[in-house]
Amino acid sequence: MTTLISYAHYQERINDFLAAKLEGLTINDPKLIEAMRYGLLIGGKRMRPYLAYITGEAVSADLNDIDAVAGALECIHAYSLLHDDLPAMDDDDLRRGKPTCHKAFDEATAILAGDALQTLAFDILANHTFSMNQSTAGMPIQVKLIQQLVKASGYQGMCGGQALDLAATGKNISLGELEVLHSLKTGALLEASVLMPAMCSGQVTREYKIILSEYAQLIGLAYQVQDDIIDLTSTEEELGKPVGSDIAANKSTYPALLGLQGAQDKAENLLQQALQALSRLPYNTQSLADFATFIVKRSH
Ligand code: IPE
Ligand code: IPE
Ligand code: MG
Ligand code: MG
Ligand code: MG
Repeated sequence: MTTLISYAHYQERINDFLAAKLEGLTINDPKLIEAMRYGLLIGGKRMRPYLAYITGEAVSADLNDIDAVAGALECIHAYSLLHDDLPAMDDDDLRRGKPTCHKAFDEATAILAGDALQTLAFDILANHTFSMNQSTAGMPIQVKLIQQLVKASGYQGMCGGQALDLAATGKNISLGELEVLHSLKTGALLEASVLMPAMCSGQVTREYKIILSEYAQLIGLAYQVQDDIIDLTSTEEELGKPVGSDIAANKSTYPALLGLQGAQDKAENLLQQALQALSRLPYNTQSLADFATFIVKRSH
């Protein structure tokens, strides 16, 4: 597998940042804060924070600003997983090699922990002192970042994608429909992971933001194609969640639509397109290229 030189470093950086955020909250309800800690701090690849940091590096943003961006993105991601695993959604018992939050605690606590992590994301952005404080179009940077995160995580983004995912369960959908579903469910938050750092830089033109978006959507899709592949080819031990769960849950997947080889070719093709997009940017995009490769080559 591709080794990402700065991955461990940034994982540690975001883990420390998030742990400090939870540490800073007044404990009103010990069980709720424990469930938030469980959902946010135990395990997770931290892909979105990593993507935010390496994009921030590429566009010369202040990495203290990226801490807040990365922290907010990971809080949204963690909340989405707590809710995704609930009986009303995917009804899963295992996540990151451990019982899912509603199994370790209870359903109401998992719902509330998800809610609280979602609002924590916006708390982090709203209350961070950004070094790049100049307003864009008369707006403070915080407001611009919050607008972007709302778009990526709400109705127009991840939540919308989750609804399409649930609606598609047990049905045959077309490849085009599957791509729309994934571009909202997974792509939108990855897109925010490059666009929010770009906003923190002040030197990224509209044209370059569009290219970064393209790259993020392509790797988002590649991630999902690979996710479907490893759901068939990995082991529960490696994955930390059950394998074959897509078939069991009657989900539409790339291997189901294209065959295993077709899905592998698709992932490779998306990778090449993502690398092509990066080549049109005037930055050092080596880490972004390595990350795209990592996503497609990962086995869990
Ligand atoms: C899993 O996301 C859920 C999807 C968005 C498809 P990750 O693979 O990033 O999960 P963790 O955070 O590493 O556990
Ligand atoms: C969860 O997607 C992703 C979001 C909550 C946006 P999946 O249901 O496909 O992911 P896993 O398989 O549970 O990790
Ligand atoms: Mg799901
Ligand atoms: Mg799920
Ligand atoms: Mg999946």
